Amino acid sequence: MPKVRFLQNGQVKEVEAKEGDSILQIALDAGIPMEHACGGNGFCTTCMCHVKEGMENLSPRNDREENMGVMNDPERLSCQAQVQGDVEVEVIEY
Ligand code: FES
Repeated sequence: MPKVRFLQNGQVKEVEAKEGDSILQIALDAGIPMEHACGGNGFCTTCMCHVKEGMENLSPRNDREENMGVMNDPERLSCQAQVQGDVEVEVIEY
């Protein structure tokens, strides 16, 4: 099972994830607060995270991320990035 390590406010939480789940879903399932104003549909940027390690273990950027201007590393929309291997992400606070 892929492992996802979340960094937030100086705290670290590592969880096991089901391959194919989004970073947002994994965070919410683990009780990690993450903004998701559009409900995880890729139409806002409140779920933005910074990928510190394992960008290659995420699904490629999709049209929704590109439409929202999320084009450059380390930024990803947590609701669109599906986990395929181990990753470390920093939760961005707004
Ligand atoms: S929750 Fe809105 S883009 Fe991810």
